[in-house]
Amino acid sequence: MLVLGIETSCDETAAAVIRGEEEVLSNVVASQVEAHRPFGGVVPEIASRKHMEWILPVVRKALADAEVRLQDLEGIAVTQGPGLVGSLLVGLGVAKALAYALRLPLVGVNHLAGHIAAVYLEHPWIRPPFLALVVSGGHTALFHVRGEDRFHLMGQTRDDAAGEAFDKVAKCLDLGYPGGPVIDRLARRGDPRSIAFPRALVKGEANLDFSFSGLKTAVVLHLKERCLLPLKEQEKADVAASFQEAVVDVLVSKTRTAARSLRVPRVVISGGVACNRRLRECMIRMGEEEGLEVHFPSPALCTDNAAMVARAGLVSLKKGGRDVDLTLNARSRWPLSGEE
Ligand code: KG4
Ligand code: ZN
Repeated sequence: MLVLGIETSCDETAAAVIRGEEEVLSNVVASQVEAHRPFGGVVPEIASRKHMEWILPVVRKALADAEVRLQDLEGIAVTQGPGLVGSLLVGLGVAKALAYALRLPLVGVNHLAGHIAAVYLEHPWIRPPFLALVVSGGHTALFHVRGEDRFHLMGQTRDDAAGEAFDKVAKCLDLGYPGGPVIDRLARRGDPRSIAFPRALVKGEANLDFSFSGLKTAVVLHLKERCLLPLKEQEKADVAASFQEAVVDVLVSKTRTAARSLRVPRVVISGGVACNRRLRECMIRMGEEEGLEVHFPSPALCTDNAAMVARAGLVSLKKGGRDVDLTLNARSRWPLSGEE
């Protein structure tokens, strides 16, 4: 089945074509990072406008790269939520127009199901059940994946997402936006044990929720104490490394606890923060200690993309799912749990 995926939930305009369960024929992502950089974060109104500018060229490029024509497509999958409403509506509008004109089945995809499905594209032999950690700029959540479209939420962040904390701390350190990749690089030159930042909800807590806003405040307070002196490069690297270590410790510890309680054989880690080198190292070590397989999609499939959306949509398209009357609407909040 030849499926076109469309993703516009945040600040990447993306389209992809996949054939069947594992063949990615094209995966085009137009990043809006430059447009949002001056503001240190995503500005929703700018995001919607950029999606409007880019969506058609991106879809055209996805078809051209895949060497397929519109009339070859057999289904369309589009991110329906969660995300920025104005952004989601751009992708939904184009997907509905194409589905109507081409008389194709259309399905709405949960963005988090997309992040999880990314792993099937490169590791087609991976099948549920497994534990999934989705860790990105907008989400930090642990799911028991019981089937390709059956998810049980085990815990999630009570405040900031891990990626959001990376972005905010990078802003405080004057490192620019997005913060994750810069902190990842800078931390390699720093000492992760130099500052003991807090690890919230880890000790003595049986629950699997996360909290990162206190950590961000601890970094801000640490920097304020030093504001008489400009921060030296080494100090910056030490703050970055210590902050990153705290985030990684929490993510690994909660994932370990969840995997033990489920007794699943494998863990999948996806979302933008799953690109983080230290997180990958520590998760792999945890897997060796616990006798668990640990899988990450490659970085281009961890960050927002449309191939993951097409792959998640394929599950429902194959079952005959479709939005018959094209009334699919954006869902800014859309918990991923139960049957999709
Ligand atoms: O999955 P994604 O592209 O978009 C969302 O769904 O949010 O994730 C983007 C987030 C940003 O917060 C970015 O700073 C973070 O992922 N990120 C990283 C790294 N690369 C991207 N965080 C830590 N280390 C990285 N190497
Ligand atoms: Zn995402």
